[in-house]
Amino acid sequence: MTSPILLRSAGVALLLDAGGPQLPRVLHWGPDPGDLDDDALGRLVADLQPGVARSAFDEPWPFPLLPGQVDGWTGRTGLSGSRDGLAPYPNLELAEPAEVHTDGAAQALTVRGMDREAELEVGCELRLEESGLLRVRHTVTNTGDGIYALDGLTALLPVPDRAGELLDLTGRWCREHSPQRQPFTYGTHARESRRGRTGHDATLLLVAGTPGFGFRSGEVWAVHTAWSGNHLHLAERLPEGAGAGGSGILAGGELLLPGEVRLEPGESYATPWIFFTYSADGLDAASARLHQWLRARPQHPRSPRPLVLNTWEAVYFDHDLETLTRLAEQAARVGVERFVLDDGWFGARRDDDRGLGDWWVAPDVWPQGLRPLADRVRALGMDFGLWFEPEMANPDSDVVREHPDWVLTPSARSWRQQVVLDVANPDAYAYLLESISGVVDEAGVAYIKWDHNRDLHVAVGTLSGRAGVHEQTAAVYRLLDELRARHPGLEIESCSSGGARIDLGILEHTDRIWGSDTNDPLERQLIQRWEGLLVPPELVGSHVGDTVSHTTHRASSLGLRTATALFAHAGLELDVTKCTDDELAALTAWAGFYKEMRGLLHSGDVVRADLPDDALLHGVVSRDRREALYAFVRLTTSAQEQTGRLLLPGLDPGLEYDVVHRPEAGAATAVEKSPTPWFERGAARASGAVLGRVGLPTPRLDPAQAVVLHVRAL
Ligand code: GLA
Repeated sequence: MTSPILLRSAGVALLLDAGGPQLPRVLHWGPDPGDLDDDALGRLVADLQPGVARSAFDEPWPFPLLPGQVDGWTGRTGLSGSRDGLAPYPNLELAEPAEVHTDGAAQALTVRGMDREAELEVGCELRLEESGLLRVRHTVTNTGDGIYALDGLTALLPVPDRAGELLDLTGRWCREHSPQRQPFTYGTHARESRRGRTGHDATLLLVAGTPGFGFRSGEVWAVHTAWSGNHLHLAERLPEGAGAGGSGILAGGELLLPGEVRLEPGESYATPWIFFTYSADGLDAASARLHQWLRARPQHPRSPRPLVLNTWEAVYFDHDLETLTRLAEQAARVGVERFVLDDGWFGARRDDDRGLGDWWVAPDVWPQGLRPLADRVRALGMDFGLWFEPEMANPDSDVVREHPDWVLTPSARSWRQQVVLDVANPDAYAYLLESISGVVDEAGVAYIKWDHNRDLHVAVGTLSGRAGVHEQTAAVYRLLDELRARHPGLEIESCSSGGARIDLGILEHTDRIWGSDTNDPLERQLIQRWEGLLVPPELVGSHVGDTVSHTTHRASSLGLRTATALFAHAGLELDVTKCTDDELAALTAWAGFYKEMRGLLHSGDVVRADLPDDALLHGVVSRDRREALYAFVRLTTSAQEQTGRLLLPGLDPGLEYDVVHRPEAGAATAVEKSPTPWFERGAARASGAVLGRVGLPTPRLDPAQAVVLHVRAL
């Protein structure tokens, strides 16, 4: 007997057959076939039944939620584990009819399954959100008497055969999110992270698409695991198929270490949310579903994102009240709204080597505490932010000397002279909560930059003696939540040596991510382009650094630096007391422009054009498509003399627009005798159809230059 379930939203559909006896079979995830009545749906499910294969099972392969060996699935299984080696092949049957209900604007399918012999129960939740984003979470409960050692619980969805190409991201410190592409061949493409944090090389999204897909074209299916510890993303293809008109699957889940999750009788484990996003029109539309979902969350930051000055690349560890007060005063004159004091204010932390973990204000550097600076900052009209790195400590610190038993990674190799504290240890947790809370109250901290500067190798729970990454990650989420509950309005940024903790798990508990430790704008253009697939601009910190980048030692124009930081939650990270008058004037004009445009930048749809590698065009288009801001960035010189036309993506073909160059966003230098008349005039007028389909001649810029175009409907 079949029992079809069709969920549809915003052009996306998920079709399942919940007729049992196994868990619902996934028959389709992708474009919406439209409204189907019961008859049509019944016929469709019957017609989708595949034929019986040769030299194979005597029945067609099913592809249920949580597929495993009993379903003939020989790929990575949905659920794996055992009872001391017994019950290795879960046989999950539908325990009661699957249920669909609406929850707000989402359609939610809940399924309960059971393996009576292995004494396991599973719960599957699939939520098709209003934006067409699909979120999946599975739970397993040990209903038996003994221990169930869980090896993995993963969410898998089939993708059709036309998804013949894979895209994922990799990277390193100061060069996060570097794309790589390959054909989606048979076998497993696994992106596994055992770093104990998301990682600089985290893929953010693992994408399968029709060959040649880009930002604006092609069909794409993508998966993201919303978890900040060890995790995996999989693309797998088997010759016998995944039962849904194709042979490939995408999957995501937490990566569990040996013995890490042992369920006592009655205990449950739930996966993080696994996000699946589909688009018929390239990566931008898949990314827009994620952005729309994030923006609809109740906790999403809705107040204007304040312009930041972070002190790190301005003064590093060189703290004193007088210097920092002068820095704050100059920052306020430029238009800064949030002043963040970075590393070096606590314990014996005068350099990288000591004092980390001692969360009390250093009396030698701050004899009167942080109040005098924090009060001055507030008097100047800015709020006060402070750096912490709660999970870490230098071995040369009071906290480690007094509590060596709190160290999660005692046998790990040294990494930036730090060890990791076991936040799941209640005493360490209480110490962190109370000491951070005390400083927040004492100095009136409105914003925490929460750093995390090493991988968690050989993490062993100090109380359990077992692999401790899962517990650590959950405890950190709890600590973040408890701090935010104690200090209403406190905002928290997730930083991890730049962008090594960017995922939708941490973003459930924080308000912004630090994109990368490189403020070199050429690097940042590329990093932001890919990071922006997952995270909308208002949640990404990006700062204007020094002329010569501190991480690449490359010099860049102020215009490129400001135009780059503009398309984010913007800030400054340089010593503004040393800027020339011209630089200060440019920064002040830019700060005003950021404030004028942030309403649009932080609510509109992000668009990116598919251009050759020597240039980028990206922008943000308002939801009503009446206004947009684009940046055209010439990364390197072009082999071509005339560099073609710029097609502005995302506009309404039926509206008439003014296109205006806004130099306040950043001044650019053009090729000498630049013969681009419209750009020399600084303005053009045309319909959205013309701008999107015919285009305007590309401004002929020198390399490493950017121009920002403001487009408004008449
Ligand atoms: C990390 C962060 C930087 C800065 C330093 C301070 O590297 O990513 O932004 O805060 O730590 O030590």
